[in-house]
Amino acid sequence: MTGASRGIGRVAAEHILRRSPDVHLLVVARGSSGAQLAAELGAGGHTVSHVPADLGSLADVSSAAGKVRVRPDRGDLPPLRGFVGNAGMQYTNALTEGPDGFEATFAVNVLANHLFVRLFQDRFITPARIGVTVSDTHSGDFTHNMGMVPGPVWKSPGVLARTGVFTKRDTAVGGRTAYSTSKLAAIHLVHEYARPLPTGIDAVAYNPGFVPGTASPVTQGPSHGSRCAASCR
Ligand SMILES: NC(=O)c1ccc[n+]([C@@H]2O[C@H](COP(=O)([O-])OP(=O)(O)OC[C@H]3O[C@@H](n4cnc5c(N)ncnc54)[C@H](OP(=O)(O)O)[C@@H]3O)[C@@H](O)[C@H]2O)c1
Repeated sequence: MTGASRGIGRVAAEHILRRSPDVHLLVVARGSSGAQLAAELGAGGHTVSHVPADLGSLADVSSAAGKVRVRPDRGDLPPLRGFVGNAGMQYTNALTEGPDGFEATFAVNVLANHLFVRLFQDRFITPARIGVTVSDTHSGDFTHNMGMVPGPVWKSPGVLARTGVFTKRDTAVGGRTAYSTSKLAAIHLVHEYARPLPTGIDAVAYNPGFVPGTASPVTQGPSHGSRCAASCR
């Protein structure tokens, strides 16, 4: 599971463990935060382990997936029965570039999920479920986003993966357009997964609706401008 450290994902992780006390939950978290997260979630006797990855880096995602893939063979992780791609990010511009040269919103919200699913695809046993957290913002209308987020501007994924795609790209409007577009891309991904995945492996796009105030306020981002937590959408 990604994005289990706080907000919607933290509540979901606790719910998964409460509802399925025998599950082994493996959380992917940034830097050294995974150990504490696993300890907190594991309090009360739950089995929780962690692997580090900054999801903005495809090398990190590949490395994390590689570490997970071998664990069932070693016997210290059961066969994979699910993947929860909940981590999500919104920047106050559409110019933030990750270490691979991809636009950072697209890298975290789309590419990281895709890479995990592709690298885990042959490791799932049935029944299994892939869940990716999406958003109402992909709808692009007032009813769904209350005018707070511009609708998606669809282009081919190869174009969307790069910076500088949207108008007003150096503003928060550009950042929000990148966000809503990335969530539409995540929905397209889930539909694509549903086609080649073997019977018994479901792919679900989960839309939590508007959940204000789940986490930190806007903070300075790694390269351009700021990143924006859930309270921005
Ligand atoms: N809140 C809403 O109104 C709303 C509405 C629709 C959809 N959503 C979606 O729901 C999901 C969760 O939202 P939230 O409001 O709970 O967000 P949040 O409180 O801001 O939490 C975001 C989570 O994603 C992780 N994350 C972000 N960038 C990461 C990176 N580069 N590497 C590793 N982990 C990273 C964060 O880890 P750290 O603790 O390390 O930062 C955190 O666990 C997101 O996909 C969001 O787009 C939210």
